[in-house]
Amino acid sequence: MNERAVDICMIGAGGIVNDAHLPAYRIAGFNVKGIVDRNHQKAVVLAGKFNIPKVYDSLDAMVADQDEHVIYDCALPASEIVGVLQELPDAATVLIQKPMGERIEDARIIRDTAHAKNMRAGVNFQLRFAPSVLEAKKMIHNGQIGTLTDIEIYVNVYTPWDRWSFLFGKPRMEINYHSIHYIDLMRSFLGNPSSIYAKTFRHPDALQLASVKSSMIMDYGDLIRATIHTNHHHDFGYQHQKSYIKIEGTKGAIKMSLGALINYPHGIPDTFEYITIIPGTVPEWKSKKIEGSWFPHAFIGTMEQMMLAKKGMIEQPEHHIEDAYDTMRCVEAAYISSEQGGVSLSSIR
Ligand SMILES: NC(=O)c1ccc[n+]([C@@H]2O[C@H](COP(=O)([O-])OP(=O)(O)OC[C@H]3O[C@@H](n4cnc5c(N)ncnc54)[C@H](O)[C@@H]3O)[C@@H](O)[C@H]2O)c1
Repeated sequence: MNERAVDICMIGAGGIVNDAHLPAYRIAGFNVKGIVDRNHQKAVVLAGKFNIPKVYDSLDAMVADQDEHVIYDCALPASEIVGVLQELPDAATVLIQKPMGERIEDARIIRDTAHAKNMRAGVNFQLRFAPSVLEAKKMIHNGQIGTLTDIEIYVNVYTPWDRWSFLFGKPRMEINYHSIHYIDLMRSFLGNPSSIYAKTFRHPDALQLASVKSSMIMDYGDLIRATIHTNHHHDFGYQHQKSYIKIEGTKGAIKMSLGALINYPHGIPDTFEYITIIPGTVPEWKSKKIEGSWFPHAFIGTMEQMMLAKKGMIEQPEHHIEDAYDTMRCVEAAYISSEQGGVSLSSIR
């Protein structure tokens, strides 16, 4: 790609920018020309660490210094997004950090603001661009595992939520801030489900968090099982911590682990295994070495899509704001399902 054509302006200099956005852009060779943060010193520190030439005093100053060859990359708390979009120029290209608000009403306002300003906007649901996920999609596209019959996302880890103090006291947590990645991923494989069954759970040792575990079924009819099970409070060492995506088809299966979540923040390497049924042979699981991981490599994909769309090489980024809004509709459906509960036993005599 012609890198000169599009530069990146970073809005926000927090944890995820340090851990994923800027490392990913460095790997990809994307040019970050400026950074701004309400806390100026944080922007100064990241500019030094990642050789970003300009630290702006304000968003206004950043905007005033740009021509049209720029993508604004917002990595801010959800509550800040609408205000920042309003300050950006009409028709700007903008990548917005998930979760696109706390509720569907917030997502609608973000979407409508981007529309009203005629923006090219995407939301940073990046798991669909993780290297192992891209490899799985290639295998599915090539017909190697046949027709999809089952996708299971399973996470049993201990997540130190105190690293993200802003999550404490929020009315919604696990699904809106974590499982949202898996919902978006499931949609990237199977499209929108017809409905969602869900229950999200608290833990007695983490009552300040709205929930830390969830189980969900995304309903794609009775020939495909699509499930998400997460438990972030497995506080029993890391021997039995697990985190994987398993995809089954009529001709084979893929199992990939997401090592970043295990023994967080240390992590362990990812794995990618697959099996294909070849008539006349005994099926055998094989391993494939995949370069790169969810963090930070998947962040290359979300930005690259914005660049390709800006240059007119694709019509719109895969994670465009309308698509992201559908992920938020699924999140909303999951919370409604969780609140409504299952079929009451007392209704059955
Ligand atoms: N996609 C992912 O996998 C992923 C992972 C972690 C966090 N996130 C999301 O990224 C966002 C940021 O998370 P974080 O962990 O970096 O948070 P953080 O608190 O470390 O950083 C947020 C930064 O935004 C700055 N800020 C707030 N409002 C601002 C404004 N109006 N203008 C300029 N700067 C402003 C703050 O000063 C802070 O430095 C959150 O919405 C979070 O949900 C996404």
